[in-house]
Amino acid sequence: MSLTLVVIDDDELDRHALRRALTQTGRDFAIEECDSGEAGLERIRSMRAQGRRVDCLLLDFSLPGQNGLEVLSRLREQDIDVPTVMLTGFGDEELAVESMRRGADDYLPKAKLDPLILASKIDAARRIFDARQRTIAAETELRDLVEQLRRAVAARDSVLAVVSHDLRRPLNNIQLALGLIEQDATPRQRDLAVGSVRRAVDRANQLIGDLLEISRLDGEIELDRQPLDPLALAQAVVTDLEPVLARSDASLRIEHGDALDKIFADHHRVRQVLDNLLDNAISHSPKDGTIVLSLRNVSGAVEFSVRDQGPGIEPVVREHVFDRFWRGEGRPKGAGGVGLGLAIAKGFTEAHGGEIGVECPEDGGSRFWFRIPAPAPTPGQRGDTAGESASDFEGEEAAS
Ligand SMILES: Nc1ncnc2c1ncn2[C@@H]1O[C@H](COP(=O)(O)OP(=O)(O)OP(=O)(O)O)[C@@H](O)[C@H]1O
Ligand SMILES: [Mg+2]
Repeated sequence: MSLTLVVIDDDELDRHALRRALTQTGRDFAIEECDSGEAGLERIRSMRAQGRRVDCLLLDFSLPGQNGLEVLSRLREQDIDVPTVMLTGFGDEELAVESMRRGADDYLPKAKLDPLILASKIDAARRIFDARQRTIAAETELRDLVEQLRRAVAARDSVLAVVSHDLRRPLNNIQLALGLIEQDATPRQRDLAVGSVRRAVDRANQLIGDLLEISRLDGEIELDRQPLDPLALAQAVVTDLEPVLARSDASLRIEHGDALDKIFADHHRVRQVLDNLLDNAISHSPKDGTIVLSLRNVSGAVEFSVRDQGPGIEPVVREHVFDRFWRGEGRPKGAGGVGLGLAIAKGFTEAHGGEIGVECPEDGGSRFWFRIPAPAPTPGQRGDTAGESASDFEGEEAAS
C-alpha cells in the first residue's frame, strides 16, 4: 500500500538525504516536499480539503521563522492531527522529548538517517497515532455515556418527585371523595364527590401523559409530518378551548397576516405546543384579560405567538422557563402544573427544526412564540402539495 508522506524541511540537502533514505527502504511512498512551515501547513490543509490522507508528517525541528513545535501547535489549533515524526539535529534530545510531549508521535535525529530506522519510525508514529485516536474516541464515548447516565438519573429523580408529590394529590382527592360516598352522603354531596373523582382522574391522566412525553423527548422523536395549514390548525385549537375559556376570565382572539405559508409538520405535536402555550396564557391571565394568538410568516418559517396580559416573566428566570420541572413562584390559584408544559413544547418545536422563545413586552404580559420551518416546495410539488394540504387538513380536522 502506498503511503503519502509530507516532508517539511527548509534544507535542500537534508530533503535530498531524506528522499534517498526513503527510496532505499524499498517501500512505496508518495512524498510531498515543503521548504517552510507555512508552505507545509498550506499543503496539509489543501490535501485534507481534497480528501487526501496524510499518512505521516516528517517535520524538521529547526525551521526558520517558526520551529517544528510551532508548526505542530498551528496544526492542532486547526484541529488537524496527523502522525508526526520530528526530525532533530545533533544534540537536540531535550527538544525531541519536548516535541513528543507537545504532540509528535516519535522523533529521529537526522544523524541516524538510516532507511531501516526511518521506516520503523514512520510505522511507530502511525501506530501511536492510531492508538491515540482510539483513546480519544473511547474517551468521548465514555463522556457521552456519563452525561447520558447523569441525565437519566436526573430524569428518574424528577419523575420520582412528581410521582410521589403531584400524583399523590389527585389520589388523595379520590380517597376523600370515596370516603364521602361511602358515608350517608346526600345526592348533592355525592355529585360533588363524583365530580371531584372525575377531575382527579383527568389530572392523574394528564400527569402520566406528560411524563411519558418527556421520557420520549430523551430519544429520537418520530414525527408524522404532513402538509398543514397553520391558520386552520390554530382555529381548531381555539374552538376546542372554548369550554375552558368560558370557565376562565380571559378571552382569546386570532390575528394573522395574509397568505400564511403551509408547514410540513406533525399535526398532533404542533397542536400540543399551541395547547401548552395557551393553557399557560389562560391560567396566568387576569380577570377580563385578552389573549392574542398571532400567526405570521418569518424568513422561511411560520411563527405562532401567544400574547397574554398576565404578570410576565422576570428576566432572570426567562432562561429557565423551558427547563423540565421548572415552575415559577406564586402561580395563580388553579394553575397546579408540574412544570413540563414548556419543556414539552420546546422538545416538539426543536424536533421540527424550529425555535421557541419568550419575551415580555414593555406594556406588560408575556409573548411566547415558536417557529416551525415552512420548507419551500419544489416547483413540481407546489400545486400538488398545496392542494393536498388544504383538503387533507380539513379532512383531519373534521375527523378529530
Ligand atoms: N404565560 C405565562 N405567564 C407567566 N408565567 C408563565 C407563563 N407561562 C409559563 N409561565 C411560568 O413558567 C413556568 C413553567 O411553565 P410550564 O408550562 O412548563 O409548567 P406549568 O404550567 O407550571 O405546568 P404544566 O404545564 O406542566 O402543567 C410556570 O410554572 C410559570 O411560572
Ligand atoms: Mg403549563
